[in-house]
Amino acid sequence: MYSAKLMEHFTNPRNVGEIADADGIGMEGNPTCGDAMKIFIKVENDVIRDVKFQTFGCGAAIAVSSMITEMAKGKTLEEAYAITKQDVADALDGLPPQKMHCSNLGADALRKAIEDYQSKHKQN
Ligand code: FES
Repeated sequence: MYSAKLMEHFTNPRNVGEIADADGIGMEGNPTCGDAMKIFIKVENDVIRDVKFQTFGCGAAIAVSSMITEMAKGKTLEEAYAITKQDVADALDGLPPQKMHCSNLGADALRKAIEDYQSKHKQN
């Protein structure tokens, strides 16, 4: 049911934790399953230099968090904002249909972190 890659990210997730002096923080939750995800980003010259996550959720949500943080690191804000739930699912070699909402959570939390950063760094 789950790909080997997904299982590998679930059992050995990357970028777990928080960034105390984060430049942007995004939170997303799913009211149906009750799972929640928080993503912290550190930004330098419009590039995501560091990213960490805290996820209270299912195994797929944890694997999604791990994968999306790996995908976002080193990308420009614009590139990271464009990552879709399908991109994350593809990078994990697919998700079962009933688990696609888990990857939505990751893409949305990352976008919220970027929006949080942008709202704090509006150019005058
Ligand atoms: Fe809801 Fe996975 S079951 S995030």
